[in-house]
Order: sequence, then structure tokens, then C-alpha cells
Amino acid sequence: MAPPAQLDDYQYDAASFQWISEKRAAPKLSSPTNTLRARNVRFTAACILQANGYHPPLVIPACLDDLEPLTVQHYLPRQLQPDIDWQPNFAKYGERVKRNKLRRAIPGLNTELPFGYPREISSPLVWSGPELREQGEDKYVFHLTPAEIREAEEALEAFKASKQSMSSISPLSFPLPNLGPRIASIANQLDFGCGFFVLRGFEPRNYSSSDNVILYAGIASYVADKRGRQDEHGNLLLHLIDLGSKVAPDNVRQAPYSNVAQPFHTDLGEIIGLYTLEQAARGGRSKLASTGKVYNELAALRPDHVHTLQKPDWVFDRFGQSPPYLTRPLLYRDAETNNITLAFSRRLLTGSKVSPRSKGIPPMTEDQAEVLDAVHFTAEHHCISLDCKRGDMQFWNNLALLHAREGFKDDPESGNVRHLLRLWLRRENSPWKSPEPLQGLLEEVYGENSGIAERWPLEPILDYEHVTTRRRSSGHG
Ligand SMILES: [Fe+2]
Repeated sequence: MAPPAQLDDYQYDAASFQWISEKRAAPKLSSPTNTLRARNVRFTAACILQANGYHPPLVIPACLDDLEPLTVQHYLPRQLQPDIDWQPNFAKYGERVKRNKLRRAIPGLNTELPFGYPREISSPLVWSGPELREQGEDKYVFHLTPAEIREAEEALEAFKASKQSMSSISPLSFPLPNLGPRIASIANQLDFGCGFFVLRGFEPRNYSSSDNVILYAGIASYVADKRGRQDEHGNLLLHLIDLGSKVAPDNVRQAPYSNVAQPFHTDLGEIIGLYTLEQAARGGRSKLASTGKVYNELAALRPDHVHTLQKPDWVFDRFGQSPPYLTRPLLYRDAETNNITLAFSRRLLTGSKVSPRSKGIPPMTEDQAEVLDAVHFTAEHHCISLDCKRGDMQFWNNLALLHAREGFKDDPESGNVRHLLRLWLRRENSPWKSPEPLQGLLEEVYGENSGIAERWPLEPILDYEHVTTRRRSSGHG
């Protein structure tokens, strides 16, 4: 609906919800009758637009009584971003569901799924957290034996002695004759099991910063064959830690460098790895949810949500870059494998306290706001929380699972300062492929010819720009 330059030249057709661009005689607004007419047109248009999810301003502009011609900016209801935050709010979600139900009485709901979308997905990757827990932790937590840890330490010493660069870490340069095949076998769980696993048994306090990085990259080389760049600087490893206000104040420091809870989202990597060097004093657990489970719930109860999720009109904020925003779907179906993937960072859709949504870009619709919360709260209901114990190395399939993080509290005096190392990985032979519309972004992560040198920071990066930039398309939740 292109906005007319001057509203009085047009008529709003309530039946078709369209501006009719037929030229009409412009009324003189000094006449009380015409002022009244303008008010009525505005009121009618406002009612119709509100019924369609737009929010008109409540105050009638004073210029209605002025002699200057009314332009559309004066009284066309502005389309505003719905009242939705980065931190999901269940009460607001409930209110929106009620409001949208009333509004939808006009156009009706989609009761059929989009073409090709399954009524239900059935796979080991479709699970609910409480059910998975009942089956026992040994389904996804694998304890390393003292002999396996010794073998990893020998590989670490051998790699250090070889004086090779970090980029060359692979099963060849980090040989694990017994543990390696076990890890590779467990890693099949990423594609064909519950989609995640935890290796438990390392004691990071026994190793230097450098040793922990080598150990982690060495173990991860048996999980996936490719490592991704996590930012424009070529960092293949990132430290997730609350840096406090010494590097940047709370109101600008992004989530990976703070202690706030992160809502459900996906990263850009295909396999995500986290190595817990230190645990928080309280909270900080990882939460994982099966995308297939979320999909099944929505497909059964709200097929219209599936329509909304797979439409290519979601506006992703690029925070000052050119172009200022991108549009794409949140939900994808792989026509070959029927795999269903959700790919989004909520921050880019809603903005957040540390990344306020850019002005002037199209708002989310009320339908989209409802769906976004429906995805979050469905994931929350069916998620599993993992403790992130010191030494845990967890890996999950980011194309099949959503993740979130509890808020946490550190205690520097006791050494309980949450500190995780993160890798973004890819399994070249995996049946899970990133959706086509993301390939451009993923080229920046996994592309061979970036010309950017690899970096392996051994300590957290204490740089204001690094911890405050809003522009990374993912990895900030
Ligand atoms: Fe994340």
C-alpha cells in the first residue's frame, strides 16, 4: 500500500483495504465541513489500519485546523514496531494472542500448512526435554575415562612439540587412536540422534590458556571437519564471559560479554561447540530445544504460524549498514531431506536494550510478533537445560536445535566466573545443510577465499568495539 502524497486526493476503500488513487478535488481545509471530513477520513482509515495491526497515533495533529494542506504524514497512522522486546514477556504474548484473535475475525486464519510442509516430523531429533531426561543423562553426557584423558594430553604435548600453527589442528596432527573413533561415533548423534552431546571429564584448571585452546580444537576436529570464522576479524574461537563494565558499560555491552539471559535463537554456525573453562556461581545453564518439536506443535495447533514463519518478509536489522535491513524467512524446509530448520537471531528482529532497533526500517507485523513469542515459549516448554560443568565440552546441531542461556551471577572471589570457549563448526558430509538464503552469510563463516587471516585468541578480547558492535548478524542472540 503505497502512501499517497496528500490524503485528500485519495479515498480509502474499506472493502479492499486499498488507497484508491483517483484524483479528487482537494478540499480547502479552512472550511469547517472539510476539516470535519478530513477528521472522518482519518478516523476511518485509522480504524481499518488498526484492525490490520497498525497503531495509529492517538493525538489528532493540530495542523488539522491550519491552512496548510494536510499531507499523509500528518494523519496517516504510522506503522510502529509492535510492543515486543528481546527478552520475551509471557503476559504481553498472551495479550497479543487475544488481540490478534479478534483482529483475525476479519480475514480468517490459514488452517492448512504451506505446500510441502509435513503435518508432523518423526525423528530422534524431535524430543521434549522432560522426556529426554527421563531416558537418562547417559543418552547425551559421555564420561571420558582416565586413559582417554591421558591420550588427549599426549596428543596435546605432541602437537605443541610439532610447532605447527593452530590452523593445522586435525586428526592427523592431534592423533587420538582410541578416543578419536569414540568421539566420531558419538558425534553421529548430531545428525541422527538427539542432536547434541556433552563430553565430560577434562579439568581445564590443569592446563594453560593455550593448552585449553589446543585441546578443545583437537577434540573438536573429531566432531566436525571444518571450523568457521565467528566475526569479520577472522576469530575462529571466541571467549564468552561477562567482562563487566571495565571494558564497556552494561547498556552497550553485547550479550556474549554480559551475564543477561538470552532468549531462544540460532547462531550462524552449523555445529556449535562450547567448552566450559569455569562455571558461574549461580545460573548460566545452556538451554536446548528441538526445532522439530517446536514445528510439530505449531503445525498441529497453529498452522497459520507456519505460514508466517516461512514467508520471506521478516525484517532483519543491519544496524547502520547498507542496505539497512534484509528480509528473509525464519523457517526453511529442505525439499530433498524434509529437514526443517529455524534460523534467526531475535535481537535482529526486535532490537534489544544494547541494540535498539534502527529507526526508519519496516516494523514487524503483529502476526510476526505473536509467532516469534510462540516459538520462544514453545521451545521453553520443551527444552532441556544443561549444567555446563567445568570441563564440559558440549556440541549441538544448530540447524536442528534452538538454544538459549540462563542469566547468571559470577563470584570472582571463589573463582566461579563463567568462561566458555565457542567454536562454529561444519560437518561436510552431514545431511543437514544450511538453507539456501543463508549461503551468502555462511560464505563469510566457512568460505575458503576470504583473505582474512585466522585468529585464535587465547584470552578474552578486551576491546570496546569488539564487545559493543551490534552489527554481527548472529552470535549475539
Ligand atoms: Fe547463540
